[in-house]
Amino acid sequence: MGFDLIPVLIASACVSINIRELATLAATTLFLLTFSYSTSLWNGKVSHPYVDEKQAPELKLSKAQAVKSFHRKRFDFLRDGFKQTGSWAFQFELLKNRVVAVSGEEGRQMLLRESGLDLYEGFQIVLESIPKGYDHHQVNSFYKRLLYLQKTDNLSFMIPYLLSDCQRKIDTWGSQGLLDPNSAIYDITFVMVMRVLNSFDITDDLALLSRLQGWFDVLDTSTEPASVYFPWIYGPASIRRLWAATNLYLTFKSFVRKRMNGGTARPDALQKLIDSNQTEEYMTRFMIALPLAGARSTGTIGKWLIMFLSSDPTWASFVRQEVEGLLSTYNITLPDNPCHEDLTHALSQVPLTAWETKLPSLDLCIRETMRIAQPHTALRKNTGPDFSAGEFTIPSGAFVAYSFLDTTLNPSHYADPTRWDPSRLLQKDIPSIGWGMGNHLCKGQRLAILTMKLLTASLLLRFDLSMVDEKLEKMEAPPVPNYNDQLTCQPMDKCSIKFTDRVS
Ligand code: HEM
Repeated sequence: MGFDLIPVLIASACVSINIRELATLAATTLFLLTFSYSTSLWNGKVSHPYVDEKQAPELKLSKAQAVKSFHRKRFDFLRDGFKQTGSWAFQFELLKNRVVAVSGEEGRQMLLRESGLDLYEGFQIVLESIPKGYDHHQVNSFYKRLLYLQKTDNLSFMIPYLLSDCQRKIDTWGSQGLLDPNSAIYDITFVMVMRVLNSFDITDDLALLSRLQGWFDVLDTSTEPASVYFPWIYGPASIRRLWAATNLYLTFKSFVRKRMNGGTARPDALQKLIDSNQTEEYMTRFMIALPLAGARSTGTIGKWLIMFLSSDPTWASFVRQEVEGLLSTYNITLPDNPCHEDLTHALSQVPLTAWETKLPSLDLCIRETMRIAQPHTALRKNTGPDFSAGEFTIPSGAFVAYSFLDTTLNPSHYADPTRWDPSRLLQKDIPSIGWGMGNHLCKGQRLAILTMKLLTASLLLRFDLSMVDEKLEKMEAPPVPNYNDQLTCQPMDKCSIKFTDRVS
């Protein structure tokens, strides 16, 4: 994406901004888009002519079909490609880019083994018009800070805030009703993730948060194939993205600036950045980039976790009993009719280590949800020399695509793979790739798991949950994920989470 429209957009938004800021805004927008790709997994592009004799079979389809199917129906496209070619690897052209789709144990091992397969190179090429904006050094520095924010001391300190954020959102629901699973759970996890990675001045303001969430949504949902391949064409999606990035940038920057210019110190991530003498630009980027990396995925897995538990009274009851057991271990009693403050206070007394190690059923539920509701496709570029994989050669410069579902829905690993059954994970040692592979394991795992546990405990202690269909009838089976929806993995059919206050 180019940045020549940035000044126009900013002027039209009547925002007062000087030339230097314009330049940094352009650089930041560029950086965010590339960062967002690295973690939210936009679609990849590589321009390298494919020349090798031991080629994986070519999938026969038109260029337009390849672009459309790969971007819009990736799960079906990959599954059908393997079926059609009868091979564990096949290749196709994505306009001028060569992509090798891989599957099976050979495909999975390749991603683990081959150090030349680079995630970042991939997204640099995706955003071909802005290749110089990505700063490896800065991203590594962000990751170090992210790990630091997830240290035991900091996460322990954050627990009461996280619980309160969660209850604050739940309070707006009333004592019974229906929830849209696609928005209600993400609304909560977004605030919680922001609490740890951002400024308390922002996270305390629910109205501002909901505007920010809207802009983040635009950034990670409005990619269109045309804008990836023809970045110089400004379609509506590109303009929306630019508008959202501009708003995010200006908003976060104003909070950073205010704090630096004598605003009240708060015990948050922003203060830690200021205390470590980071520049205004670095802090602004950090505060936008990290939520982009983690909020959506936490919301997606979180919503499926709650949907599966709402569909399965047995597991919901196991988990509820486990949480109640934790409370009694620490001699914490809940009043009969617990309100927001009672619940926050009670659950806050459970130490981080107990949340992390004493909820085995909830751990299984989270792992099983990540297995079944994460339609992520890992995309890499081979930045090293050609290498062999099985009978094929993966040429230097080619893209590699591997769908996680190839492992997680594989009947040879998991019997009846689309059934949500946390107990299956007790049975044998089975491959788990939910947090990624090799060098690119998720860097926000500890925060994501804690967020999902606090959310689940808060909901199960407060409500009875069930799933209802479009006609508001109780669903006999859990909803089915749309695996072609790589980003938000919405249910195939319309459904709602029905909640009823447990004491009403
Ligand atoms: C349930 C929630 C989450 C899931 C399922 C998840 C999953 C993943 C996966 C599968 C990858 C690797 C992608 C690949 O190899 O192509 C990844 C990378 C990453 N995740 Fe998460 N993630 C979650 C939450 C978070 C959170 C809360 C953060 C905090 C900011 C975060 C930060 C990152 C970062 C920075 C990377 C890039 C790692 C790298 O480039 O080496 N994630 N995540």
